Amino acid sequence: MADQQARTGENSRPTEIPAIRWEEPPEGPVLVLLDQTRLPAEEVELVCTDASALVEAVRSLAVRGAPLLGIAGAYGVALAAARGFDVDEAANALAGARPTAVNLALGVRRAREAHRAEFARSGEEGSAAAAALAAARRLHAEDAAASVRMAEHGLALLGELLPGGGHRILTHCNTGALVSGGEGTAFAVALAAHRAGELRRLWVDETRPLLQGARLTAYEAARSGMAYTLLTDNAAGSLFASGEVDAVLIGADRIAADGSVANKVGSYPLAVLARYHHVPFIVVAPVTTVDLRTPDGASIEVEQRPGFEVTEITTPQGAVAGAGGGIPVAPLGTQAYNPAFDVTPPELVTAIVTEEGAVSPVTAEALAELCARSRQV
Ligand code: MRU
Repeated sequence: MADQQARTGENSRPTEIPAIRWEEPPEGPVLVLLDQTRLPAEEVELVCTDASALVEAVRSLAVRGAPLLGIAGAYGVALAAARGFDVDEAANALAGARPTAVNLALGVRRAREAHRAEFARSGEEGSAAAAALAAARRLHAEDAAASVRMAEHGLALLGELLPGGGHRILTHCNTGALVSGGEGTAFAVALAAHRAGELRRLWVDETRPLLQGARLTAYEAARSGMAYTLLTDNAAGSLFASGEVDAVLIGADRIAADGSVANKVGSYPLAVLARYHHVPFIVVAPVTTVDLRTPDGASIEVEQRPGFEVTEITTPQGAVAGAGGGIPVAPLGTQAYNPAFDVTPPELVTAIVTEEGAVSPVTAEALAELCARSRQV
């Protein structure tokens, strides 16, 4: 981790969580990340001075969540260019760091293409690096703007589906400001409902094995002042059965052309529960997460993660005992099945909310039309 330095933040909490930012100190440009593996115990920043440090941060989930991975990938290319590294090599390493979230490869591609086009025009490395940085900044700003519009469309949809307010919303994984240039995707909708006085409670799935719900969504919910309750993932069934869930709101890592949604493992069982209990299952994601080049759910590559994430509990405080540095909860040598994501078929999705509006019912035609409309803007 030679080029990845930890920097401990001040005790005072910022009003906005800076999940990522570009800085230009005299020693050269750096990408500063809020290390999400250390939350909620500590707010620690990681300072990346090259793309390989960023690749490590992506793999360890210090930086994570589809939209933020796209922004990070674009800044990573800009960082490699600004520091005089091989841009193609950096772009390939970044794009391949995690396979499922389509935004990562997309962000890398946007900055890489901006770099290439400017170099072809000017023949100057400096202006090509500036073009890559401008592309990353643009993507960052676009994501913030998309987040505002997703929240508006999502709130309007909740109003249509659940007239009368007082929503009790169940969410999974983490989809707020920690994964976005703005306030996020699904969490931004819950936040908008909270601000409008229409959220009765946010049910937060803990999201095993890495606890993005318990560590990160609960952290964001607590900061927002909304009413929220944490549950184990396997308590969701009884919560539905007791009539306590009005809607499910989740994000997405990739949406295939047929409307299949890859998201954090545990999303698909929620969709099945929601259908059985006649509860709307709503996916909130920017149009950049829709990947028309992936035809269907079966074509989505699902990242498989190391078994120790399941056989050990890794605390943010980092208790040291097992191979992964966590507390063993299974006999030594136990095999684990640990897909990072699952895929929900379109027929179980009530609506996909994007910055361009909502698609419901979810069909290949409606998604293709949405993407075409978004490209014309
Ligand atoms: O493995 P992670 O933590 O990167 O997974 C993140 C998710 O599954 C999110 O729900 C998804 O990226 C949508 S974020 C708006």
